[in-house]
Amino acid sequence: MNEKNEIVKNYKLKIKNLKKHNKYYYEKDNPKISDAEYDTLKQEIFDLEKNNKYLIDLNLTKNLVGSAPAKRFKKIKHLSPMLSLSNAFNIDDMRDFQKKISNFLNYTKQNIVLLAEPKIDGISATLIYEKGKLVKGLSRGDGLYGEDILENLRTIKNLPQKILSKDIPNLLEVRCEVYISKSDFKNLKDNFANPRNAAGGSLRQKDPKVTSKIPLKYFAYGFGSVKPMIFKTQDEFLVTISKWNFITNPLSKIVASINDVEKQHSYIDKIRSSLDYDIDGLVYKINDLSLQQRLGNTSNSPRWAIAYKFSAEKAITRIKDITIQVGRTGAITPVAKVEPVTVGGVIVSNATLHNEDEIKRKDIRIGDTIQIQRAGDVIPQVLSVDKSKRDKKSKSFIFPYKCLCGSKTTKEYSKSTKKLDAVRRCIKGYSCDFIAKEKLKHIVSKEAFDIDGLGKKVIEQFWDLNLIKKPSDIFSLNYDKIKKLEGWGTLSINNLKKAVEKSQTISLDKFIYSIGIRHIGQENAKILAGFFNSKKEFTKLFDSKIRKKILINLVDLDGIGETQTDSIDNFFSNETNVTIIRDLINKLNIKNYSIQNIDGKFSNKKLMFTGGFKNMSRSEAKSIAEKNGGKVLGSISKKLDFLVVGESKPTKRKIEQAKQLNIKIILEKDWNKILNS
Ligand code: IVH
Repeated sequence: MNEKNEIVKNYKLKIKNLKKHNKYYYEKDNPKISDAEYDTLKQEIFDLEKNNKYLIDLNLTKNLVGSAPAKRFKKIKHLSPMLSLSNAFNIDDMRDFQKKISNFLNYTKQNIVLLAEPKIDGISATLIYEKGKLVKGLSRGDGLYGEDILENLRTIKNLPQKILSKDIPNLLEVRCEVYISKSDFKNLKDNFANPRNAAGGSLRQKDPKVTSKIPLKYFAYGFGSVKPMIFKTQDEFLVTISKWNFITNPLSKIVASINDVEKQHSYIDKIRSSLDYDIDGLVYKINDLSLQQRLGNTSNSPRWAIAYKFSAEKAITRIKDITIQVGRTGAITPVAKVEPVTVGGVIVSNATLHNEDEIKRKDIRIGDTIQIQRAGDVIPQVLSVDKSKRDKKSKSFIFPYKCLCGSKTTKEYSKSTKKLDAVRRCIKGYSCDFIAKEKLKHIVSKEAFDIDGLGKKVIEQFWDLNLIKKPSDIFSLNYDKIKKLEGWGTLSINNLKKAVEKSQTISLDKFIYSIGIRHIGQENAKILAGFFNSKKEFTKLFDSKIRKKILINLVDLDGIGETQTDSIDNFFSNETNVTIIRDLINKLNIKNYSIQNIDGKFSNKKLMFTGGFKNMSRSEAKSIAEKNGGKVLGSISKKLDFLVVGESKPTKRKIEQAKQLNIKIILEKDWNKILNS
């Protein structure tokens, strides 16, 4: 190769690299190299162009190098966490939402009034005002810690720097969505995939002057901490802050019935394309803030709100092949490999077929012409088959009864639905390589060990290179070997080392969630951690005899039923699972689960409930006890302080046991008195 060819090759390689890192930064919001490394790469490209002018004629860097790299902004803890929303995709999901909140609040007749607001597809930020003055501005970050982007936020037009009103709370935290309008986006020359990414990129600019050149707009939609609390409804909050010169969305509407919910949804969907900003659904919020307060949050999202997404974009394509995928719980999911097709701006080449029954019901075959749809971040799905286009010689698809690892798969019998599960599963746990790899991806994920720099792709790569085969391998990585791999430099290795080291100290609830026992999600992991309290107690589950005794007590815990205890039993009956978890524990410092001591009516008290209450559901009673510093137990023991007895069908045996142990009994009327006192 002559020298010129060599230079062109080198130049193209560097541009490819830069594009890759732009993508990590702008599209995935997950930069893989430091600012300095990025700057060096950019400089090298400039230098090559300076010394070899013919490179400029190749026109490869147009719109590419202008964008500044990520800045590591200061991380600041949110005054109250910035949660996400759970999703509804159809009216039945919305009915479920209404049913759940009515059950929780023990409402039977009245409709609960909701406020329907457009869900702006932008970047969320929170603004903190002290005595009316804007003092802090944070990005969402991981929900608990945000990035200090105040100076960039200050550049947004119409965002109040000072609230000029006498009646403002001393502390006011306004949550908003920052966006770039569709028309402004058209005029932007940078290489962003969509307005949302452009808004994210702009907000995270190093230099606020650069941000100020990009026409960012915002809608304020909610509040975080407010002291003193002066608002009574979400609607009133929005009207008030709009008087204080915040921009709020004009399309919010009060709805009360499920008909209204659907009507508003179709109306906004219809006018959606005429709006100058992207929305991807409506957020339905309970309007009454005291009801919001009663409902509270689950670990990730408020119970009082839901995002009802617009129906997805659809496209027609053809199935090239049907393969199977093995999930971390062993679930076998059939996947259609399709002719690549663009759906809603994204190229799709895989679509899920859900399960064996779905393939049978729709009689889906290889070679079929199908309609697929993609909704939000969810995996595209196969909607229907056009049988008129089917080849006469096509044959029904025979579902493979073996896992990719070669072992038999089974369908479980569900005790709660009394039916065979629709999903086929491989039950080899960590002994199946395909499950093991997925479990590893779960372990490093954000909600679990949260190891920065060790994402799904890296797990795949490290697995293939035999660097990680089981969870404990994460903590004895061969960094010398990694150093030799493409894309890894001293800085990224050091960052990985730090992230791995940091994750070695983990709380018991996160640990329980991380090991991936089926039916044990974040909520249940917390309940279990509250029960076991320490690693020592939790590891007693390893012993089959002791396990049986523990499981009997666990069934009484609120939230834990037979489905969960059977699953825990299955998990620890598998010798490989136990060995793997033991090895992992040896590398960790697992912190005891401490429920934060909250000052309240039940501080440091242990309560148990039996029977139903007139004014509230059991879930609400439990959440009230916890909000007041109490701990809710599931079985009667000497540890218990109070047995709270609801009037509707309490268990006599429990009341007798409590009496024998001299545990104080609180009747429903006394419970109500205590709460109102
Ligand atoms: S309310 C979860 N209202 O959607 C806390 N969110 O998926 C309550 N968003 O982080 C959120 N428009 O960035 C709410 N009218 C709206 C919204 C909205 C956009 C974003 C927001 C939030 C995300 C949750």
